[in-house]
Parts: sequence; C-alpha cells; structure tokens
Amino acid sequence: MSNKKIVFSGVQPSGNLHLGNYLGALKNFVSLQKEMECIYCVVDLHAITVFQDPKLLSNNILETTASFLASGLDPTKSIIFNQSSVSGHAELAWILNCVSRVGWLNRMTQFKDKAGSDKEKASVGLYIYPNLMAADILLYKATHVPVGADQKQHLELSRDIAQKFNNDFKCPGFFPLPDPLILKNISRVMSLRDGTKKMSKSEESDYSRINLKDSPDDIIKKIKKAKSDSEPIPENLKSLEKKPEALNILNIYSEISKNNLESVLKEMAGKEYSYVKKKLSDLLINEICPIGEKIKKLMNDRAYLMEILKKGNEKAKIKSDENLKNIREKVGLI
Ligand code: TRP
Repeated sequence: MSNKKIVFSGVQPSGNLHLGNYLGALKNFVSLQKEMECIYCVVDLHAITVFQDPKLLSNNILETTASFLASGLDPTKSIIFNQSSVSGHAELAWILNCVSRVGWLNRMTQFKDKAGSDKEKASVGLYIYPNLMAADILLYKATHVPVGADQKQHLELSRDIAQKFNNDFKCPGFFPLPDPLILKNISRVMSLRDGTKKMSKSEESDYSRINLKDSPDDIIKKIKKAKSDSEPIPENLKSLEKKPEALNILNIYSEISKNNLESVLKEMAGKEYSYVKKKLSDLLINEICPIGEKIKKLMNDRAYLMEILKKGNEKAKIKSDENLKNIREKVGLI
C-alpha cells in the first residue's frame, strides 16, 4: 500500500455559488492544493439525480468550473474536471452498487430529506447517489475527502464499501479507507434571514445569501438587512447561544477577518451590530467581488473553460483507467 495522500472532492454544478460554498469548500480546496495532490470534480452525474433543465445544466457545469478557477484553484496544480466526462465514475459506481447493501442505503438521512414524503417517486439515482460518491473517491484511491458535516454519513458509507470490497475480493488495503476532512466552517455560514438554516441557493429570498456574483451594492444592502440583534454585541459566546442570527454575523466576520470568535467579541463588545456590519460589508466587497468579476469574465470565454475541463479530463482519465483496470481484475471481469 502506498502512503501517498490524495485529496478528492466534488461540488454539484449549481449556478450561483454563494458565500457558504466559498468559505465552506472552495477556500479550503485552495489551501489544500498547496500541500497535497488534489482532484476537484464538478459532479454533474450527481446533479441529474433530480431533474435538471439541460441548457441550465451545461451552463452551470461551466459556471462551477469558473468559480473554482476564480476562487484560486490552479489547473496546473490540481486536476479540475467534470464527472460525466470520465466514464470510469459510472462504471465503478455499477460495480460498487453490487458491493453496497440496501440496508446501508436505507440509513442515509440525506435521501430521506431529499426524497421528502413521497419516496416512491424519487429517482433510483437519488437513492444510490452515495454509491456514486464512493465511486468518485475510490476511483482515484483518494485518502482525504474535504466535505461539509452534512456529507459525513456518505463518507462513512464509502469507507464501508471500500472495506467490504477489500474483504470480498481478498485484497486487504487495495482501497484505502478515505478519511473525511470535515470542514468545520461549512455548517457555520447560515442564512442571513434565519440563523438556524444553512445559507442555501434554494432559499427563496435572495436576501438570505451573499452570492459570489453580487455587486458591492447588493452586499451592502444584504448585510444591512441581515437579521442580528437589538441588544449590543455581548462579551462572551454564551450570551449568543439563543441568538443564531447574531452569532452568524459574527461568525462570518470572524472567518473573513481571520480572527477567532473570542477576539472578535473582545474587540466588538458593547458596540451595535451596525458597526460590525459595516466592517463586514467592506471585507466581503474586498474578497468576494473580485471573485465574482472573474467568474463573469470567465463565463464570456467558454472555449477557455471547455479547454480547462478537457485537460483535467485527460489527467483524470489516465488515473481512472489505471485503477479501473486493477479493479476489474480483482472482480474477475475480462
Ligand atoms: N455529495 C456531495 C455534496 O453534495 C458532492 C460529492 C459528490 C462529493 N461526490 C463526491 C464530495 C466525492 C466529496 C467526494 O456535497
């Protein structure tokens, strides 16, 4: 077994990535690429587990790629590609469908949430989504997977599948058991309208989130309107326990100003939220707006984005083909 560290992560191609995606995922992806071999994938096959308008989907695949690049992912350092362009993902997913157990999938809480009350009407793809995620990871024998806390259960399933494969085909250590790199921040960026909900592109009000493509004016308006608290900023964290919106503002400020929450409270105690909001808007405009501008610029050069994906696809394919050849051999496929 080699002890090489390989990072793999996937982001679904939804257009309009927001501050939660940036602070929770993209920013961490960028720092990981300095230390390890990283593979970052736009997971379009996962997206179609619920119906996607074809035109929008193509556009969103490119926009997510543009957001990767604009946030600082470097295609000469990391492999950047879209999942459906490397057929090994679907092929390994099938093999793993035969390793994974119905009982295991029945425990997945995300399926229960996404399928809602009428499970009979959910796509089969949505049900076996976690097996495809395991295939993404194991296809490259990834050892480290940066994900938000909401994906932890899926990652544990990937470990179970890897373990069962290694046992069933008597090849201990063949698949490394992937370790989660749980990104603590991802669950911390909450809706600006409801501090108990994650910032999300599906929340109806655009005032609930800061989009990477927002203008400085949008950011100022949204932060001004964001829910906080009528009392001044307290000295200690404990007093924020029952005030999720106030905590969210301070958390985002702490993250973007690179100061921990304790020192933010020390600095801000006794001040009104309008004070921290003003500072927060300035910092967000500085950090987010240049990224948004870059995304817009990249989206005007689709040929360039297609070329990035093509090059990434070629690199991913070499690794995928090599691993898949060994996997097929273990299973006895000729
Ligand atoms: N399911 C993940 C999400 O929605 C995306 C994903 C797909 C992924 N394949 C992956 C994440 C492999 C990490 C590794 O966030």
